[in-house]
Amino acid sequence: MPEQKQKITYYLKLLYPFVKKDKGLLFFGLFAMLITSALRLVDPLILALIIDQSIPNQNMTEMLRYGFMFIGVVLVSGLLSYLQIVLLSRLGIKIITKFKGDVFSHLLKLPVGWFNKQPVGELIARVESDSERVKVLFSDLSITIVGNLLFFVGVFIVLMVRDWTTTVVILPIIAITIVAYSFLFKYISRFFRIIREKYAIISAKITDYVQGMQMIQALNQEERVIEDLRKASKDKQRVEIKTSFIEYGAQSFFMFVFNVVFVVIVIMISAPKIISGIATLGTLIVFIQYIYRMVWPLMHLSENFMQMQRSFVSLKRILELTTLETEDETFTGTEIPAFEHEIRFDNVSFAYDNEDWILKDVSFSIPKGKKIALVGPSGSGKSTTISLLCGFYHVQKGTISVDGLPIRNMDFRAWRKKIGLILQDIFLFPGPILENVRVYNDEVKPNVVQEAISVVQLDDFIKALPQGLDTELAERGQNVSQGEKQLISFARALAFNSEIIIMDEATASIDPQTEARIQRTMNQAFGGKTMVIVAPRLTSVLDADEILYFTEGRITARGSHQDLMKSSEDYRKLVELQLLGGSNE
Ligand SMILES: Nc1ncnc2c1ncn2[C@@H]1O[C@H](COP(=O)(O)OP(=O)(O)OP(=O)(O)O)[C@@H](O)[C@H]1O
Ligand SMILES: [Mg+2]
Repeated sequence: MPEQKQKITYYLKLLYPFVKKDKGLLFFGLFAMLITSALRLVDPLILALIIDQSIPNQNMTEMLRYGFMFIGVVLVSGLLSYLQIVLLSRLGIKIITKFKGDVFSHLLKLPVGWFNKQPVGELIARVESDSERVKVLFSDLSITIVGNLLFFVGVFIVLMVRDWTTTVVILPIIAITIVAYSFLFKYISRFFRIIREKYAIISAKITDYVQGMQMIQALNQEERVIEDLRKASKDKQRVEIKTSFIEYGAQSFFMFVFNVVFVVIVIMISAPKIISGIATLGTLIVFIQYIYRMVWPLMHLSENFMQMQRSFVSLKRILELTTLETEDETFTGTEIPAFEHEIRFDNVSFAYDNEDWILKDVSFSIPKGKKIALVGPSGSGKSTTISLLCGFYHVQKGTISVDGLPIRNMDFRAWRKKIGLILQDIFLFPGPILENVRVYNDEVKPNVVQEAISVVQLDDFIKALPQGLDTELAERGQNVSQGEKQLISFARALAFNSEIIIMDEATASIDPQTEARIQRTMNQAFGGKTMVIVAPRLTSVLDADEILYFTEGRITARGSHQDLMKSSEDYRKLVELQLLGGSNE
């Protein structure tokens, strides 16, 4: 995604819908924050009153009153700070849950073309980590940053009122110290970044290795893998140790400066004033208390700001995902297609990226009820043709039309409803087999699903499962074989009674028995339907009404099997290779 410069108001507008429903939470959270910050100023002042008034006047009742006030303020302030955390984290969690839901449902509506340009795994990981950062932005970060800034302003006002001469001396020194510390922190954060990078490398390695576990074991690479991971961890450990040494060293030093040096300075400035009666002991106590309370927030100021910057970058990234053009905005046709006669490709040229033509001047016709097969070498444009047929992309030249109505003008959902698509990489939802067949559509009754299952001859397979049709498929259907997956996807197309069956067969080898079974069920299940199939296995195309032979994005030969055997040398070679070299059919 290109980094666009947008005004902050633009993002606030995008953010508003997410906060809108929880305005109350936001308001009360901020209110609690304001009061908490104010109360943090109060208890040292009460202490000062006791020291400056009650004790010199030997007024016991007043002292008790102040004492109770002191306890009250501390209690209320504790309660409110608990309340602000609860309210604002709840807001953060709510916002982020809605964010993730919205982002994901928005992603589902994007044109497939968009996903070609994005590594999806990376994208999901980014949404995940971005969400976490945005969450703390609303809870922890806003509390620490806004709350502390409010507190600092309060401190400044109170100190100026009580003893401005000491304040103007001590504040610049504190400022300089903080600036020095933030430079040091910048230096240290370089190491933090290196650690994060090393961590990312290690987790990428682990993911790869775990996925390839079978191969690693087959190749006897366990020792080398362990060694590789050990080295990577050692590497990270070295940087981590060095960093913690510098980090804690710096922290201890600055803590010392604040807690001891500043206190001594304040005492040295105040003592003569107290002796000569210009200042009070209470004021000194207020100063010291405030310094103690500012140490920790001040030291984390630069860290918090850096976190906030990162959170804003994350927030922008997520918000921008929700503004991408959806399929509905890309494919704006509204006409409802009817398919009575034929689907036509007329001089279609297509490129995924501008000018890099994948299909070149392709023309053919799919008459209703016929079986058309696409064959040709890998990369020749067969799957691309199928994507265009399903309306996943706009073509740049030529037209694809159904009974004369260009796909471009169609309501794309209405068109896709007619299509039963069976892809190379068969996608199964995590969930029961029943739902995988009817795709969570209650209108398709279980008996229809059962019937479809029978037609594709999966009866025995289903019966053998512990819960029959309700058996859950594991992640990506890993507990189902390749051939069974294909049959399940046939059942899906059958259950929906799709008018057009489009199939991009997997190249993955399936045993001859299963292949024959798939072949049989296909003819039985889809006989008489319009079919477009990409078939690496020629057995499934021998009976096609027309075979289109693709070479580098062009149709270089077409006709029935017999025609092509005569007319196309390439096709003949393919047949010889597969049929004769293969199973002697
Ligand atoms: N999403 C995409 N973005 C950019 N280029 C693509 C994309 N999909 C495919 N291509 C390119 O288009 C060309 C045709 O690919 P296509 O998938 O249509 O081939 P195919 O005939 O189906 O091959 P196979 O038999 O291996 O499945 C290839 O050169 C491929 O690199
Ligand atoms: Mg393909």
